[in-house]
Amino acid sequence: MNRLAVNLAKLAVAVNYGLPVLSLCFLGLGIWVSRYFHVLTLIFVYLTVLNIYYLKFQKEHAILRNFGILGRLRYMLESIGPELRQYVVANDYEERPFNREERSEIYRKAKNINSAESFGSRKEFNTEEIKIRHALYPLNQNEVERFQLTFGEERQLTNAYTIHKHIMISAMSYGALGKKAIRALARGARQAGIPMNTGEGGYPEQHLKEGCDIIFQIGTAKFGVRNDDGTLNEQKLQDIAAKTQVRMIEIKLSQGAKPGKGGLLPKEKISAEIAQLRGVPRDRDIISPTHHLECTDNTSLVEFIARVQRVSELPTGIKMCIGSHDEFRQLVEEMIRQDTFPDYIAIDGAEGGTGAAPKAYIDTFGMPLLPALKGTHEILNELNVRGRLKLVAAGKLINPARQIIAMALGADAIYSARGFLLSIGCIQAMQCGNNTCPVGITTHNRRLQNGLIVSDKFKRVIHYVDNLEHEFYELLASIGCRRVQDLDIRHLYIPANTTISS
Ligand SMILES: Cc1cc2nc3c(=O)[nH]c(=O)nc-3n(C[C@H](O)[C@H](O)[C@H](O)COP(=O)(O)O)c2cc1C
Repeated sequence: MNRLAVNLAKLAVAVNYGLPVLSLCFLGLGIWVSRYFHVLTLIFVYLTVLNIYYLKFQKEHAILRNFGILGRLRYMLESIGPELRQYVVANDYEERPFNREERSEIYRKAKNINSAESFGSRKEFNTEEIKIRHALYPLNQNEVERFQLTFGEERQLTNAYTIHKHIMISAMSYGALGKKAIRALARGARQAGIPMNTGEGGYPEQHLKEGCDIIFQIGTAKFGVRNDDGTLNEQKLQDIAAKTQVRMIEIKLSQGAKPGKGGLLPKEKISAEIAQLRGVPRDRDIISPTHHLECTDNTSLVEFIARVQRVSELPTGIKMCIGSHDEFRQLVEEMIRQDTFPDYIAIDGAEGGTGAAPKAYIDTFGMPLLPALKGTHEILNELNVRGRLKLVAAGKLINPARQIIAMALGADAIYSARGFLLSIGCIQAMQCGNNTCPVGITTHNRRLQNGLIVSDKFKRVIHYVDNLEHEFYELLASIGCRRVQDLDIRHLYIPANTTISS
């Protein structure tokens, strides 16, 4: 059977003739019936002129040249395509990076609404998904030991830092995020009792105002702690590390969404304040170097870690996306040779998020979290140094089940970035790099930021953390783990045809 289709070429011809004819008709009606018809005359004359311009004068777009104003509809529909798909077309499990089902779990947790479901799971059960094994004799929640983790205890640091919740806010710079989002997250972090990573945004002025515990990140451009030549300025680092709120330092080597490439802040997002905090001009994109100038091989990298530890006197971790486990093994061997270990290693999966990155990097680079994490944990164990540092995992760990899976594969604590963005109202509009975030989170546009009320949104962070924590203990009890440290890979059901090795 022939498909019922609109013949666009014929329709375009009808429009081409119809517009001037209608203009003339309304002109006549305006003269002889009522002058109010001239409003329509003006509109149709305007459309006729525009149509002629598209058909005869502009040369850029073939569609407009062939179909005139009708072709314009295509561009309009294309521009609202993501919204149409998100709200009208896509089902609850289709969208990426987070489908509606996943997002609404976070919204409900953040709004403190019961996230229990009825009747049964809507997930496809005939899958190769990893599941968590429950115990034949589960525990009661109150039998599970409270979570506690101390960074820097391995080096017996006087400034060791203890967290009491398994989750921390992962690096997102002031720059990638707007001021109000930073304030809402920082206020929420303080009241929820979790630390917040500054990302590579330079001096953490906004975070300091809210009083939360801070993990100060040193990106490859060293914003906030740089000399003019891009190397580390020890005095600036010392000054930042001396602030009581700053509890740990993180050296960023790479990020899951763009490993092998430095950070990117488009110029549209560089406000005067951000330029000042980072010490950069406003008239061009900020592209950070691909690596720290001081670190060109394993020897110099480990020396640099030791230097930051010495200067800051704080627990100091590194953040990286794994490219190859062989490379990682060699790095650990160098740590053993120098007897220098970071206080933690944050493993960022290739599925991680970003404010802005080229598509090829987002889609194609780096190892996904689970194999990356499993391999690093195993290598550290094989080399007998697992006890020298902590492992932190990041990469779509937005709910307690995924967090438990990461912990069973070796993570001691969890970083989440986008989970927290969703908690303060992110609708996954995918506009982070354009300064046009419709909910005011990743924009510096004041009008758009108007929608984000800090005094309301910070509460969502608290609820999200509280609900994550509550379910975390609930799951541990069902697994039969008295202590989170007892979790291991045996608590996971990994289908035979699912591999999580690199
Ligand atoms: C808007 C945005 C900005 C980010 N900025 C940074 C950054 O400055 N430094 C960094 O190491 N990672 C940055 N990340 C990556 C996150 O810290 C995190 O590692 C990654 O998104 C994985 O966590 P998630 O899946 O919970 O989002 C950013 C992510 C997002 C979404």
